[in-house]
Formats: sequence, structure tokens, C-alpha cells
Amino acid sequence: MPITKAILLVGGEGTRLRPLTLSTPKPMLPLAGYPITAHQIAKLAAAGITEVMLATSYRTEVFADWLAQQDYLDLQIKFAIEEVPLGTGGAIRNAADHMNLSDDESVVVLNGDVLSGHDLTQQLTQYAAAKAAASLHLVSVADPSSFGLVPTSDTGEVLAFLEKPKNAAEITTNQINAGCYILHCDVINQISQGVPSSVERDVFPALLTTKAKVIGYLDNTYFLDLGTPYSYVQGSADLVTGKVSSPLITKTGQAVIHPTAKVDPSAMVFGGSVVMAAAEISAGAVVSGSIIFENAKIDVNSQLFDSILGRNSKINSDLILTKIVVAENCTINTEIPAGVRVWPNLELTTN
Ligand code: GTP
Repeated sequence: MPITKAILLVGGEGTRLRPLTLSTPKPMLPLAGYPITAHQIAKLAAAGITEVMLATSYRTEVFADWLAQQDYLDLQIKFAIEEVPLGTGGAIRNAADHMNLSDDESVVVLNGDVLSGHDLTQQLTQYAAAKAAASLHLVSVADPSSFGLVPTSDTGEVLAFLEKPKNAAEITTNQINAGCYILHCDVINQISQGVPSSVERDVFPALLTTKAKVIGYLDNTYFLDLGTPYSYVQGSADLVTGKVSSPLITKTGQAVIHPTAKVDPSAMVFGGSVVMAAAEISAGAVVSGSIIFENAKIDVNSQLFDSILGRNSKINSDLILTKIVVAENCTINTEIPAGVRVWPNLELTTN
């Protein structure tokens, strides 16, 4: 039976991305000018998906307001809202319960915060050929020490779901879960209803104990977990420069500049930067690998590298700033160290 339905897991609070996620849920943050969720939906549609269930919990209204302005002609997009967050496992069950799945149907499940160049159509083909109960996109990483590990057999069957390794001896594979699954409805029906659970820590390990066929789809083309400010800004830049593709991005280059943004001819904007609507980059300014939100401003001769400047925020003149995160409505009058995150509505000045 063809797979035409998908669940997008978008209900997390995105704590690692605060303060950006205080007002905007992580999957609604813009990546190369479009919400992460819009890229995910486009990827699903390109693989033949026609119905997408957004599994939300945190700030559902932001998704709803955005969706109301979209024109998805060939797609049905719906919401399954959790009154209390059910974790990634419980969220899948809750979403599936809203989907009218038939007895032999399988669905695609995507983490809402992953940017990947993996070939979902290939994963679907491999899953159908293997007659598996579940498939996971896996990637090999250079340093797997901070991830749960997913070893597979020679024929690609998942052997175990191992917790984060505590020492080098426990690193038996460099394969990790990349957050895109195909699940048969029988697997989903084994998840308890209304009870928080984790798909990685609870659902998949339990599944292996039932001897179900769980396969890995290893595809190392491009993978980034957008969970931290620096990976988020990196992912956006990689889409702008074409290091990874999205059906929504048809032209790549050094920067995306909104038609209503003002960039002085003497300013330099490059490295995959995005300058959003009504933002202003003044004379002599340099912006590299950064995201400048709507109506933000960088004053004359200031330089910003690998950073995020929130909506209506301003960096005053002659400052050099690297790897900072500034939320909305802030004014920065002084240089601050890399790694600093500025909460909304603040003015930073040296005495
Ligand atoms: P952190 O708080 O920074 O860890 O972020 P997160 O919890 O939002 O994301 P995490 O990487 O832990 O979760 C992976 C994906 O699952 C993200 O797209 C989340 O939005 C989503 N997610 C996490 N918890 C829930 C939940 O309880 N319900 C739903 N519907 N989605 C969830």
C-alpha cells in the first residue's frame, strides 16, 4: 500500500535554542527565509506524501497562524494537539489516532528540527522491499560519543539501540539516528495512549524485544540537528549556499536579502547570511553567516559573524561580534563575547 501520510514532530519547547524559542517554536524558526516546517513539508510532498499531521503541543497558535496564510493546494495539513507534551513516542501515537490509518498502513515520521539531504524516496523504497515493521534514517558521524548509537547487521537490520557511550569501549558503531522514520501502524499501536514516552529510548528498544524487523537506511549525504543556535545558523547558511538542498530553494548564493531590506552598497553580506524584511545593513558593515530578522539593524562599520539578530533589534556602530544570539527588541551598544545570548527587550551598554 503506498505511503501517503506523515507525522511531523513539532511539539518540543526547544530549550537549547532559547531565547529564540521563547516566542517561536523551533520548527517555525526561519531557515533560508522559510520556516523549518515549510522545508520539511516540501520534502515530504516531493516524496509523495499528501497528508501531514503536525504533532504540536508548545505554542500551537504560531503554526496555526502561519498555516492560515499558506496555500497548500495538493496537501492536507492537520493538527494533533497534546494538552500535555507526550514526548516523541506518545506524540506519534496521539497523532496517528487522529489519522484514520487503515490496517496495513505505514506512515513517515519526521523530527521537526532536522535538516537533511537524505533521499526519503529511497528510504521508502527500501522499506517496502524489506517488508519491515520500521525503518530509521541513520547517519555515520565522526564523533559519536554524545549520541545514542544504532548498530546494524550486514543486511541493514537494526541490532540494538544503545545509550550514549560512557567510554571509548562502548563506541561499537558510529551510526546514529537521524530522526526520520517509517513506521507500520502495528508499531504505532504498541505505543501507550496518552502516556509520555521517547521514541528512541522507549519505543524502538521495546520493538526490538518483539523480534520485529527494524531496518536502518544509511544515507550520509547531509545531516544537521538544528537544536542549538550555532547548528541552526549553520543550517540556514548551508541552504543559502547550496551545501544542502530544499525543494523551496531554487537559487543559491552568498546571501538571501528580502526585497524590502536595505543594504548599503558599501556593506558586505555573505557566507550564507539571510537579511529579512525591512532589516537594514548600514554603510561599511560586514555580515557573514548570520540571520538578521525582520526590521533589525546593523549600524555603520559594525561586523557580525555566525550570529542571530532578532526582530527589531539593533547593533550600534563600530562593533565586532561573533557567535552571539540576540532576541527581539534589543539594542547592543558594546562588544560582547562569543557565546552570549541576549534575552528580549534588553539594552547592553558598557559603563
Ligand atoms: P530541546 O528542549 O532543546 O531538547 O528541544 P526539543 O525538545 O524541542 O527537541 P528534541 O530535539 O528533543 O525533539 C526532537 C523533535 O521532537 C523536535 O522536533 C521536537 O519539536 C519534537 N518533540 C519533542 N518533544 C515533543 C513532545 O512532547 N511532543 C511533540 N509533539 N513533539 C515533541
